[in-house]
Amino acid sequence: AGAVPFHGEHQAGITTPAQDRLHFVAFDVITKDRDRLVAMLQEWTAAAARMTGGKDAGVIGAVGGMPEAPPDDTGEALGLPPSQLTLTVGFGATLFRDAQGRDRFGIAGRRPAALADLPHFAGDALRPEISGGDLCVQACANDPQVAVHAIRNLARIGMGVVSVRWSQLGFGRTSSTSRDQATPRNLFGFKDGTANLKAEDAGLLREQLWAQPDDGADWMTGGSYLVTRKIRMQIETWDRSSLAEQEQIVGRTKGGGAPLGRRDEFDEPDFAAKGDDGQPVIAVDSHVRLAHPTLNDGARLLRRGYNYVDGSDGLGRLDAGLFFMAYQRDPRRQFVPIQTRLARNDAMNEYLRHVSSGLFACPPGVRDAADWWGRTLF
Ligand code: HEM
Repeated sequence: AGAVPFHGEHQAGITTPAQDRLHFVAFDVITKDRDRLVAMLQEWTAAAARMTGGKDAGVIGAVGGMPEAPPDDTGEALGLPPSQLTLTVGFGATLFRDAQGRDRFGIAGRRPAALADLPHFAGDALRPEISGGDLCVQACANDPQVAVHAIRNLARIGMGVVSVRWSQLGFGRTSSTSRDQATPRNLFGFKDGTANLKAEDAGLLREQLWAQPDDGADWMTGGSYLVTRKIRMQIETWDRSSLAEQEQIVGRTKGGGAPLGRRDEFDEPDFAAKGDDGQPVIAVDSHVRLAHPTLNDGARLLRRGYNYVDGSDGLGRLDAGLFFMAYQRDPRRQFVPIQTRLARNDAMNEYLRHVSSGLFACPPGVRDAADWWGRTLF
């Protein structure tokens, strides 16, 4: 129930051991006034520092202020512990140049090359109204009420400057981001996050996760790029497929999560192994083979996704899936090639539909009380 430090070299909520709950929100900026945007980011930062410490969003708080005025905190987290709340901010490409091509805030020249629009992938069924956004905030916590409270108060503070474009709730983290954590399961029932980048992999994190000084956008040094994909899962169809087929599709066993043909979860997959029938033990169109670094020029991701169930779809099916989130140093060399390969060949596609997509540049950490979200950019 403790607090995760808000200040640091990197933003919290990336290598922080993945919490259990998510409220993710994307905003559109509705003002053209750069000073108002900066003032809001400063106010957000102060509120975020307070809320991640288990305090009210504002200095006065939910109660105790003037009875005639709306309180500076909405109150539903009163008495709740910080619950490992982290708040992580990101900037979308449309903040630098909007859909009409306007440079509203004089920052078009500072758009990082790595923040290049994602290409269309085979099978994409993206809905624009739940994709993209000028700004995003990822709230993760071990109590859903704490995560929702944080997003609600940031939206309240941003009134007149930003409006909520879309948001997503998630539960049951589908990745572990630290070796201390047991690997959780996604809604297909498989362990998810086994071969993930982990907080302990210092060398790999430098190489694959954090933007470096020579990457081309100085203000992003120590930051990371976030790709979000809302992936609807055809749960009912999956549930009618055999266990053997499910394991072939993933390339791992459902129970223990070992690569097919190996014993333990953390054994390396042997992609060269052939079965008695002469066929590869791990199928050529299996998810783990196609997503593995050996097929993708060594590219890795820090996956940090969550399960979602948005009720049912009115046709008697669960509206459920994976809200995929992955952090990386450069999506052009990591998410894009991996997803291109998966979109073309992954046997799992029969059960998946990508309905929302987002790409955000998440700046480095807030250093101290005088620093604020976006200082290095503006
Ligand atoms: C591995 C499920 C989408 C990238 C895995 C594993 C499972 C899984 C069960 C094996 C355990 C593990 O190592 O974590 C799913 C499901 C998805 C999905 C159910 C969609 C609903 C994606 C997408 C990407 C991706 C969109 C990236 C474009 C990876 C990577 C690995 C992996 C990089 C590790 C491969 C390795 O190094 O062995 N996924 N995944 N996955 N997945 Fe996915």
